[in-house]
Amino acid sequence: MEFSGNIVKSLQNKSILVTGSTGFLAKIFIEKILSVQPNVKKLFLLIRATDTNSAKQRLHEEVMQNNLFKVLREKYGEDFESFILNKVTPLPGDVIYENMGVQNTEMLEEMLKEVDIIVNIAANTRFDERYDVLLEVNTFGSMNVLNFAKKCVKLEMLLHVSTAYVCGETSGVILEKPFRMAETPNGELGLDILQEQTIVKDTLNELRDLNATKEEQRSAMKELGMRRARLYGWPNTYTFTKAMAEMMMGQCRGNLPLVIIRPTVVTSTFREPFPGWIEGTRHVDSLAVAYGNGKVKCFLGNPTYVIDMIPGDMVVNAMIVAMVIHANQSSVEYIYHIGSSSKNPCTPNKIADFGYKYFVKNPVIGKNGKPIMVKRPTLLTSMASFRRYMSTRYILPLKVFKVANVLCCCNYYHQSYSLMKKKIGYVMYLVKLFGPFIYFNGIFDDQNTDRLRTAMNSNTVDAETFYFDPRCIDWEDYAINIHLPGVEKYNNLKL
Ligand SMILES: NC(=O)c1ccc[n+]([C@@H]2O[C@H](COP(=O)([O-])OP(=O)(O)OC[C@H]3O[C@@H](n4cnc5c(N)ncnc54)[C@H](OP(=O)(O)O)[C@@H]3O)[C@@H](O)[C@H]2O)c1
Repeated sequence: MEFSGNIVKSLQNKSILVTGSTGFLAKIFIEKILSVQPNVKKLFLLIRATDTNSAKQRLHEEVMQNNLFKVLREKYGEDFESFILNKVTPLPGDVIYENMGVQNTEMLEEMLKEVDIIVNIAANTRFDERYDVLLEVNTFGSMNVLNFAKKCVKLEMLLHVSTAYVCGETSGVILEKPFRMAETPNGELGLDILQEQTIVKDTLNELRDLNATKEEQRSAMKELGMRRARLYGWPNTYTFTKAMAEMMMGQCRGNLPLVIIRPTVVTSTFREPFPGWIEGTRHVDSLAVAYGNGKVKCFLGNPTYVIDMIPGDMVVNAMIVAMVIHANQSSVEYIYHIGSSSKNPCTPNKIADFGYKYFVKNPVIGKNGKPIMVKRPTLLTSMASFRRYMSTRYILPLKVFKVANVLCCCNYYHQSYSLMKKKIGYVMYLVKLFGPFIYFNGIFDDQNTDRLRTAMNSNTVDAETFYFDPRCIDWEDYAINIHLPGVEKYNNLKL
């Protein structure tokens, strides 16, 4: 891989279409492009909205007003709004439709003529969302973006954001290689994506015939997705539908230059536009928040495994570099793992220790106004030990409270029973959702990403601007001084 140009310069005069613009990662991407290259021609931002006005409103309220843009806002001062107005075009749309649901014909024509690069970040990121929704958005929605890309007359590249966990329930070193159609993590044969669509449609029809309520349909669809995912070796519907998107896009891309970025668990910004920005409590953070609040006293993970995390700004930097370096290269489909497990692994016991140190120094203030004191968490090294732990600490006492509740009809037992049930339900839910990621015994090989870094490193200015080497992260300092304070601050959470 060779690149003798300049990344920032290459972005000059480019028109870039971004999907998923209101989301966590896309905001970092948009901010970075506008910061490093004010002479980008246009950013077309696809936003789920009914019309242009509501798209504008969402752009304004959810993206540009966001804290993340404060550095850019300060830089431009009074001119910030006009700068944005000049560079950014919000597009009402939805990837589940042809042409991504963009109705305005003038706008469509302009995009088909003007767009140089498409960055598909849109996805439904709920791991256990209903199957019909995830299939429609993550798999077929990505295909709609690809089909649109093929119609853009001067398109240089489609960059699609996937996830490293498309690999499913596997272990060892996971290579950056494309999916073959119908390839499954557990080797189960017979995966047919169109057939999956038919299964969903038939199940929905059956449910309607049975007069199933909305709630019954919802839980049946969620259950169906998890069942189909597990049949083929994926831990949940989200990763399953993201993997199917990769298969279809790889198969149908023709000559279109396609880069697939597979980030691991994306965490708060490491350095730019400022350290610690994050949106939403994601993955391990949900457990950290529950621990700080005294809701869980254990931490999950096998100390011989690695928890792969990567700050959002590094993911975006890698995306931009890949997008520039591979523009107009139609021969191959490029896959990049963006993570840390290969170059700077962090283990669950270290994370548990960082969480403990952070909450001892910064205890959560409980409802009674007193600090919640945390104890060093017990590390549960497997799902089996987690179940045993829950059984002795919670499920047995829960059964006792249930009997006492029935026998005594006493308010104390009733309240304790309901509270405990709620607490257990919450912990079980978190673990069910995140367990497969936490007990993941794999290392994401990143040789392609390394080559990308080397290609860019020939230009030292670019290398400083688009840093994405995880070796520069000191995990303890990052967790305690950047990430956990960021989770608290930018989510308005009372940790
Ligand atoms: N965050 C991570 O740790 C992580 C890790 C690996 C990979 N990824 C991948 O990175 C990408 C971004 O993730 P994220 O964390 O930024 O997700 P996010 O915050 O949940 O944002 C998702 C974005 O997609 C949009 N979207 C959802 N359905 C859509 C539809 N039908 N049409 C158009 N837009 C739609 C959402 O719009 P609304 O605001 O209207 O809902 C939102 O803007 C995803 O592809 C995800 O799979 C994320």
